[in-house]
Amino acid sequence: MNELTNRIQAYIEDIQATQIENIQDRAARIEAFRVKYLGKKGIVSDLFEQFKSVPNEEKKELGKALNLLKVAAMNKIEEFKAFVEEHQEQTSSNDLTMPTEFAQPGSRHVLSVVMNEIIDIFSRIGFTVAESVEIEDDWHLFSALNFPPDHPARDMQDTFFVEKEEGRQEVALRTHTSSVQVRVMENNKPPIRIIAPGRVFRNEAISARAHCIFHQVEALYVDKNVSFADLKQTLLYFAKEMFGEQTQIRLRPSYFPFTEPSAEMDISCGICGGKGCNICKGTGWLEILGCGMVDPNVLKACGIDPNEYTGFALGMGVERMAMLKYQVRDLRLYFENDLRFLKQFDAIV
Ligand code: DAH
Repeated sequence: MNELTNRIQAYIEDIQATQIENIQDRAARIEAFRVKYLGKKGIVSDLFEQFKSVPNEEKKELGKALNLLKVAAMNKIEEFKAFVEEHQEQTSSNDLTMPTEFAQPGSRHVLSVVMNEIIDIFSRIGFTVAESVEIEDDWHLFSALNFPPDHPARDMQDTFFVEKEEGRQEVALRTHTSSVQVRVMENNKPPIRIIAPGRVFRNEAISARAHCIFHQVEALYVDKNVSFADLKQTLLYFAKEMFGEQTQIRLRPSYFPFTEPSAEMDISCGICGGKGCNICKGTGWLEILGCGMVDPNVLKACGIDPNEYTGFALGMGVERMAMLKYQVRDLRLYFENDLRFLKQFDAIV
């Protein structure tokens, strides 16, 4: 074999080793490959030129090799083209001449928007965010919060138990974010001023008015001389910031195991201006949240001396806040992720 045949053999091996793995510029790469081997001034035509001046006795072997090279190059191009066709979809998305799809920026979920707004309002008066676990034990969910073992108050909340066996520590998905109060008080000395946003779970049949997953924001303030007047003023500040300067509040006596005294706060209905409409069921008032002075038993359970410190707590449902603020009529809408619903809140951040 002469030197030319060796070179041809090397080209053939080169061709066979060429892969078209680069997805980006496939069309350009195939064309470059074709020009290199089969173009007018390409390798094959150059070799045919040299072939002319080769001694006759070498022509047979060399001609055969040259033909093999040409066929190898042509086969490779066919192989490339077949590959491209098979991956048509990917290539077309890289075609810069195609019209583009407009980018559809996402937006924050309305519940996040409302939750952030509540956090923001409280952070302006010195509350910081506290977060904790969603799977809680009985102590942090109930016992430390002054729910006696067989007290009917435990039935107020339909709990999803993770572990509930005789003689074992009960573990459940948290039914309220009040459990965060306990964890914060156990681990910090007053003054404590926290806000605890988060997901909660209750074993409820899903309907327009109830869901098994929802969100709450809890606030807790413990210090020397914290009074019910402090609570009331904080509530009024919150209501006005959240629902507008004209908003009025009223407190109704209520019961929660972890607060004494306890109250529920209503705000004047912003939709009818207090005249009575179907949103406020004709009363002119909307129920917003539960609150009260932290029960001395709770402070004691968390290692805080109730003779030295007092505190207030409040808790609200984020879904309800969003419902009132944006007049969402069905709780299920928050979780279905129907774009037609979500897009209505595009403009608010
Ligand atoms: N944990 C209560 C619930 O889930 C809400 C609540 C009421 C929280 C009164 C409080 C409070 O901190 O003081 O229904």
